[in-house]
Amino acid sequence: MTQYTHDRLLIIDFGSQVTQLIARRLRELNVYCEIHPYQNVTDAFLADLAPKAVILSGGPDSVTREGSPRAPESLWSMGIPVLGICYGQQTMMTQLGGEVRGGKISGGGGTAEFGRAKVSKSANLDLLDGWFSQGDEVVWMSHGDHVAKIAPGFEVYGTSPNAPYAILADASRHFYGVQFHPEVHHTPRGAKLYENFVRIAGFTGDWTMDAYKDIAIEKIRAQVGDKQVICGLSGGVDSSVTAALLHEAIGDQLTCVFVDHGLLRKDEAEDVVAMFRDNMNLKVIYADEKELFLGELEGQSDPETKRKIIGSLFIDVFQKYANQIEGAEFLAQGTLYPDVIESVSFSGGPSVTIKSHHNVGGLPEKMGLKLVEPLRELFKDEVRALGRELGLPASFIGRHPFPGPGLAIRCPGEITRAKLDILREADAVYIDQIRKHGLYDEIWQAFVAILPVRTVGVMGDGRTYDFACALRAVTSVDGMTADYYPFSHEFLGETATRIINEVPGINRVTYDITSKPPGTIEWE
Ligand code: XMP
Repeated sequence: MTQYTHDRLLIIDFGSQVTQLIARRLRELNVYCEIHPYQNVTDAFLADLAPKAVILSGGPDSVTREGSPRAPESLWSMGIPVLGICYGQQTMMTQLGGEVRGGKISGGGGTAEFGRAKVSKSANLDLLDGWFSQGDEVVWMSHGDHVAKIAPGFEVYGTSPNAPYAILADASRHFYGVQFHPEVHHTPRGAKLYENFVRIAGFTGDWTMDAYKDIAIEKIRAQVGDKQVICGLSGGVDSSVTAALLHEAIGDQLTCVFVDHGLLRKDEAEDVVAMFRDNMNLKVIYADEKELFLGELEGQSDPETKRKIIGSLFIDVFQKYANQIEGAEFLAQGTLYPDVIESVSFSGGPSVTIKSHHNVGGLPEKMGLKLVEPLRELFKDEVRALGRELGLPASFIGRHPFPGPGLAIRCPGEITRAKLDILREADAVYIDQIRKHGLYDEIWQAFVAILPVRTVGVMGDGRTYDFACALRAVTSVDGMTADYYPFSHEFLGETATRIINEVPGINRVTYDITSKPPGTIEWE
């Protein structure tokens, strides 16, 4: 039997794109939780983990399909609270004697519902404490199937126009099912439901970043032993926190490698190396591999090809430097949960690939280095909290995220050195503008993308035929969803003028007003 030091909440993952957001909501409540794909959650597993409560996630499958995922049968007799979300609600109904009908997507002809909806209260329920105080609640629905007949013992506590069983519960057994997703930001007061749920389950909220740090350090020590570790440093928050955490865990057994792939922002390489060597006293190797990367990328235009090339070169480069460090057996990376969820589902569950992220592209067996990824279950704001806990300078913790493939994915179409140079200059002017206007900390991420389009302009008396660029700035809490930043027209006008005047090669500036979804933050 496994020994645990904290009360545990188990999230059974049925493959929803947003399962980890449930974990996030729980972490905000200082509740320790683990996500496991449904395939791994057997009766024996449940008995060993002995969770204090269970949440069943949403998922892309249809419970009406023969052989579709289910929760383990022993769950229903453990005497603990269970919350089913969307697919989780539907499997709960199916397993406990209710009925689910297929929607348009799974061919049942019923009502599918995607997007915002309003839920009205039908009766009082402990899970709903604090809800409906100002009337209906706005929720985010995303389902094809729906419950057609509720299971014995359950009652309806909330309805929406297209979901008569939006909130169901068997209050005596503390089994709850909601058709919508309380974990996403589009359900503005969804966090309250989680707060109620963990209160009902008796959690005390003893899980903090400080506690996470100590456990992460112990895990690193246990994994690494007395072996040497190499850490890829990018200067971003994630790799900085990874390096600091490893440094605290294993001290001199850590050597950082900063790869300059020629896709960095202006002055970035110099700044980062100085910061880590001087401020943090880390062993840092500066790997100037600009020629290697740019040589391979030149002329490439397909987004996935670019990502794959960069990912595999990164591995080659690391291997090269790893070979120079005696006894190096591990490679540490600052992979975060959002990097994982859109590449493969967390812990190997079933969700759809949107982009392959270079840092989770999979290390080939031949590399002979094992991975250490201590941030793999964390969201960005949790990483920042951990960074503060580790004493990193505020200026580093507050930096906007920068993707591993760097400027390559901000250069749609063919990558050329000339375009990258123009992009770097434009980006520097844009960020300078944002800082001067005191907006940097309000924005999650801001950057310029250089477009594969030339446009005609006029400067002075002459005709220009130069590149157009797009400015991007988004607000976000975790990178999973994002809204474009509402700059004033004055700011946009002033920035466009500066870029066109100060950056040769650009004669037109546009502002990207796409949110995520349906867009992604990066252009590729
Ligand atoms: P998207 O474009 O998927 O980006 O909405 C979400 C967040 O992830 C960053 N991003 C990456 N980070 N390796 C990384 O380390 C990658 O391959 C990668 N691709 C996107 C992106 O900058 C944003 O913060």
